[in-house]
Amino acid sequence: MLKEIKVAAKYILNKTNLSPKIGIILGTGLGSIADSIKKEIEIDYSEIPGFPLSTVVGHKGKLVIGLINGVAVVALQGRFHFYEGYDMNKVAFPVRVMKYLGIETLIVSNASGGLNPDFEIGDLMVINDHINLFPTNPLIGPNIAELGPRFPDMSEVYNPTYIKNAFEIAKTHHIKLHQGVYAGLTGPTFETPAEYKYIRIIGADAVGMSTVPEVIAARHMAMNVFGISVITDIGIAGSIEEITHEQVIENAKKNEKNLVLLVAELVKAIH
Ligand code: HPA
Repeated sequence: MLKEIKVAAKYILNKTNLSPKIGIILGTGLGSIADSIKKEIEIDYSEIPGFPLSTVVGHKGKLVIGLINGVAVVALQGRFHFYEGYDMNKVAFPVRVMKYLGIETLIVSNASGGLNPDFEIGDLMVINDHINLFPTNPLIGPNIAELGPRFPDMSEVYNPTYIKNAFEIAKTHHIKLHQGVYAGLTGPTFETPAEYKYIRIIGADAVGMSTVPEVIAARHMAMNVFGISVITDIGIAGSIEEITHEQVIENAKKNEKNLVLLVAELVKAIH
């Protein structure tokens, strides 16, 4: 697997003169963060050796390298979900390739269901911790010591300095910003009311079908992580409405301008 990761990284590095240290994964309906990048190069996933292909509507399947606010970044426009049938090693593959591109900081975004009664559709939530509700973990299997330790510490997964930065940026730009715990599970079903209730009771503020596997792989490799969720639907008794993937995409776009601004300012602050 390590060889495959290195082959993919080498293929990408041969196509760019930039040396990005920040990687960004764009969630459902949030691809337009990539439009804010002054692009140097765009590579279709299908071109990159070993890369999986995105099968989900709303996920483009492109790797973009360029500048945000003058800072070099690599962005994945389209991620791989466990529910697509990929095993965890495929889901984590792009993050591991990023490590070999020289990425030290990972910014992840996603669309999620809101469980905290303070949340409204379109709100942004900085992820300050997560709960892994996947029935597996990307680190199961022989440990690749070159990537990281057998038993990685998870006491501080989301970088507190970046969280502080994000709130300062939000204050300056009058962006409404929450923070909370993200629970990641397989999908592809949305939750039943009883499941939303359960996930709230165990301590989550938002729930979605991604992010946790990539973040675990990133922390294994000692990357600094920042995560942000856009609340696209509400999973609170009395407020639960029928939801479709199309609705999630549409609602994710509602606050895209602020998300793009926040990410761009954060990139500048942490670089
Ligand atoms: N549940 C799970 N995943 C999601 C949701 C949700 O309510 N909204 C967007 N992704």
